[in-house]
Amino acid sequence: MRYYLTTPIYYVNSSPHIGHAYTTAIGDMLVRHQRQRGAETFFLTGVDEHATKVWRVAEEQGLEPQEYADRIAVPWRELPRRLNADIDFFIRTSDEGHKRFVREFLQQIYDNGDVYQDVYAGLYCVGCEAFKTEDELTPDGLCPDHLVPPEWIEEKNWFFRLSAYQDRLLALYDERPEFVRPDFRYNEARSFIAGGLRDFSISRAGQPWGIPLPWDESQVAYVWADALVNYVSALTYARPGEDLRERYWPAVHLLAKDILRFHCVYWPAMLLSAGYEPPRQLFVHGYLLLDDRKISKSLGNVVEPLELIDVYGSDAVRYWMARAISFGQDGSASIDGIRERYENELANDLGNLLSRTTAMVAQYRSGSLRRGDAEPPLDFEALAADVAERLDRFDVTGALDAIWDGVRGLNQYVTAEAPWQLAKDEANAARLDGVLYNLVDGLTALAVALAAFLPETAPLILAALNQPGDLAWERVRNGAAEEVDGIAAAKPLFPRIELPTPA
Ligand code: MSP
Repeated sequence: MRYYLTTPIYYVNSSPHIGHAYTTAIGDMLVRHQRQRGAETFFLTGVDEHATKVWRVAEEQGLEPQEYADRIAVPWRELPRRLNADIDFFIRTSDEGHKRFVREFLQQIYDNGDVYQDVYAGLYCVGCEAFKTEDELTPDGLCPDHLVPPEWIEEKNWFFRLSAYQDRLLALYDERPEFVRPDFRYNEARSFIAGGLRDFSISRAGQPWGIPLPWDESQVAYVWADALVNYVSALTYARPGEDLRERYWPAVHLLAKDILRFHCVYWPAMLLSAGYEPPRQLFVHGYLLLDDRKISKSLGNVVEPLELIDVYGSDAVRYWMARAISFGQDGSASIDGIRERYENELANDLGNLLSRTTAMVAQYRSGSLRRGDAEPPLDFEALAADVAERLDRFDVTGALDAIWDGVRGLNQYVTAEAPWQLAKDEANAARLDGVLYNLVDGLTALAVALAAFLPETAPLILAALNQPGDLAWERVRNGAAEEVDGIAAAKPLFPRIELPTPA
């Protein structure tokens, strides 16, 4: 079983914000989970450098575009690291390996007869890096996403014969009803294709920043014709001397709705033209909105994700992202929500459960865990199956909700069984052992189930319970905990936080 997941590669015209962190963090949860189930995984993220808007920002700052890109690549590379996203490669489209491969790939499309020269005249939104038709604009002629007027561009370009792929794309969609998820995004993409496809320009004449076309060095590749190819190019040079294409292609692509057409329509057609299999699947998620506004560089309400991580830690930020809005849908979240979830859910529900459990084993059983005699309160095999099935269909929020029901279920079990009462009478010894075992066992199963979401916390829980650190998914079951000695009262998992004073 192999699982290759990609995030979009982000534009480097400014620094990362929480919207980018969102896709990367959730992608990491999906990949880590598949790895726990035994899949051989590859997780790719990176940056998209050859955009007109990147070139313009560099000019504004008086820098050569490459120099600008090298500087801003630093915080972008830091983003997955700070999120504790376990990526296998970080791609930059200015990598020599990528540039070489893009030329090869576009040459294949050219050789296949799918490229021709024509004059294009139209409205271009630099924010979207896309041409716009009149009916895609607001009544006063602005780009609805960026609220700026598009620019008139007229140049002789090279075009990709997208129109020739309409039938093949429709056939692909019909054969594979799960090709694009969720369903309403599949329908959106399919009806866009069914509505008729226009060829699109794959080159730019007036821009020196980009990858020169192999058959016409006077033009550079249009940023999307360059960027999409990263999903394949990375596999050719991520591991020196190895070609990973055989092993990992086709990929699962994670992206938000803003770039649906490029991924669900243009990209599969480009792949077919260049002789590749189309992607394995695409999941198109919604926007994470803060206080009902889209987080966007252009709208100026950016929240610095790295700052949230500095205060709450990466696990808390990941947890908040997965739970605050239903993954797939648009949703509005408040930053205060992080604090509430940190205190009520992570510190109280989970952290206290571990503290109480370990303290009771230490106090009543001198740290020794024995199986004893008590029915387990929850069915962890059922939970394992439910969570796996949800994550297979990208229901990240539902999966975490289900695990959290388990956390709450164990808390109710503590209250219902009142081990402190059982401990008063030696006649209850076997039952007390059994209840304590069920708590440790339940926490073991939950820690393994949570490991994809809370990669820092899960090993701490297992260590506090003196259980092996193995995260194999089979361990999400009843009875996996080993009888051990030496369990001591655990330190708080999520200590109280001093908030920085508001500016
Ligand atoms: N460079 C292109 C993608 C090329 S992929 C071959 C691009 N870059 S971007 O920097 O604009 O990133 C867009 C992506 O960032 C979205 O598709 C989504 O994954 C993520 N998000 C940006 N803002 C977001 C939210 N507010 N909410 C959720 N995801 C967000 O487009």
